[in-house]
Amino acid sequence: MEISTDKSALDITLIHQFLSTQSAWAKGIPRELVQRSIGNSLCFGGYADGRQIAFARVVSDFATFAYLVDVFVVPQQRGKGHSKALVKAVLAHPDLQGLRRFMLASSDARGLYAQFGFRAPARPEILMEISRPDLYL
Ligand SMILES: CC(C)(COP(=O)(O)OP(=O)(O)OC[C@H]1O[C@@H](n2cnc3c(N)ncnc32)[C@H](O)[C@@H]1OP(=O)(O)O)[C@@H](O)C(=O)NCCC(=O)NCCS
Repeated sequence: MEISTDKSALDITLIHQFLSTQSAWAKGIPRELVQRSIGNSLCFGGYADGRQIAFARVVSDFATFAYLVDVFVVPQQRGKGHSKALVKAVLAHPDLQGLRRFMLASSDARGLYAQFGFRAPARPEILMEISRPDLYL
């Protein structure tokens, strides 16, 4: 798999199709919002045989904080280490070094991120959120 941060190479149809129908976190998201989120993020596409097979998006100020979201590998390509390669590339990106906090939310892939140093928050009681999980449904 080749990994690139070139947004012009991204297959927006594939990304929207996965997020809106198969993801556990963005079901029903309109294509226009997917497009806008990509426009305002650092995005990582994974490609094999000229097709996109993986995606990850980072929301960041590129100085102190980053948030990793929308990580997926297409079903036919899972179990081959692609997500590990993607997370490795994210954490190695020059614009994402020296951050004070790098966050993500994951219910069932926590073991993936734990391999790269992500841990449950040391003080979960200080974290707060406004969460609207069913916003697009
Ligand atoms: C989770 C996902 C990205 C993993 O991609 P993948 O390329 O198949 O995973 P890899 O082959 O790189 O292996 C992932 C590693 O994390 C571990 N892991 C932990 N939780 C996992 C999970 N829910 N799914 C897959 N792997 C998981 C695996 O054991 C593996 O480690 P190992 O090689 O040491 O055994 C992929 O299954 C996917 O797209 N799922 C649907 C979307 C999703 O849930 N994304 C994560 C949102 S936070």
